[in-house]
Amino acid sequence: MKTVTTLIFLLFTTTPSLAAEAEGVPPPPEAYCKWEMVNYSIPASLCGLKGEAPRGEKVVADAARGNCLACHELPIKGVEAYGTIAPPLSGVANRLSEAQLRLRVVDSRHLNPNSIMPGFYRNPSLINRPGKGYEGRTFLAAQDVEDVIAYLVTLK
Ligand code: HEC
Repeated sequence: MKTVTTLIFLLFTTTPSLAAEAEGVPPPPEAYCKWEMVNYSIPASLCGLKGEAPRGEKVVADAARGNCLACHELPIKGVEAYGTIAPPLSGVANRLSEAQLRLRVVDSRHLNPNSIMPGFYRNPSLINRPGKGYEGRTFLAAQDVEDVIAYLVTLK
């Protein structure tokens, strides 16, 4: 019983605070879930998590998280400025399946080794010279990635 209480205590005290996230400070590393590439796609969701599209729309537009708008056009209400160095993502779900979208967001270098797109869930042990505060962690949490995927599949 005592161990259970300690575990619950640890769970709460190690959960990243929302305040820190809002300031753009990376949350502490979470356990990395291994993923498997099959036919240039990732069929299984990261850590078996289920994404939610409304949360994903916030992540793609958030400069401190996905920051996808820096490079991609996205059909988000009220957004007028976006980067044009990458393909527009309106209608992307007509071109790519959920599993194909997941690989692109997780680590697009498996498709294009010279890709300038950040690998948002790349294996941390493969990241060369990670930025300060990013050692041993992915750019986005697994839940954020799954939320982004859930949002992208709505772009038809
Ligand atoms: C620094 C610029 C940059 C950022 C930031 C970026 N991307 Fe990309 N993305 C690219 C480029 C460039 C490509 C074209 C393929 C390539 O070169 O890898 C691409 C390709 C893609 C594709 C495949 C599109 C297609 O039609 O084939 C998807 C999906 C995608 N990005 C999603 C995202 C999402 C979601 C985010 C944010 C979480 C994001 N990207 C952030 C540059 C970026």
